[in-house]
Amino acid sequence: MSFQKIEYPQNKISMYKLLTMQTAALTDGIPHFISNLANVSALLGSALKDINWVGFYLIPKYFPEYYPLEKLGDKKELLIVGPFQGLPACVEIKVGNGVCGTAVSKNDVMLVPNVHEFPGHIACDSASNSEIVLPIHNQNGDVVGVLDIDSPLLERFDEEDKNGLLQIVSIIERTI
Ligand code: SME
Repeated sequence: MSFQKIEYPQNKISMYKLLTMQTAALTDGIPHFISNLANVSALLGSALKDINWVGFYLIPKYFPEYYPLEKLGDKKELLIVGPFQGLPACVEIKVGNGVCGTAVSKNDVMLVPNVHEFPGHIACDSASNSEIVLPIHNQNGDVVGVLDIDSPLLERFDEEDKNGLLQIVSIIERTI
């Protein structure tokens, strides 16, 4: 496979339509979930403007094929950093903590225009000023992880980003 970097449409709806198709093309029929997440974070990292971190946190207990659960004890319930693009990040986040943990406990998308105003925000990269976090579900409807994107800009993400990224997450959910 040779992946060509392309110019994405300025219009966000068109851009996310294309990104959703690329996500499906990269992941459909590929039974390696972690590798798929690595490719999707690389895709989003190359396509999205004005971001400084994009990647995944996963809850190990839902992925016994990838994590040595017998060694993890209570840590199998935490969010653990997965494939990403950006600076090194916090490895463990408790469900309910930070933007990521809140997305899990509320089972809802967190669209945060200014992270400095979000109680309990966890600053992995001090350059981050806004953030969007989307829960990822398995076939049973459990929240098994999140897609997290940070930007150095305030108010970088809006409803069009949320809707476009929800489509990308739904493609990822097909591959679990
Ligand atoms: N800001 C996140 C932590 C993860 S980093 O952004 C990569 C949070 O508050 O949960």
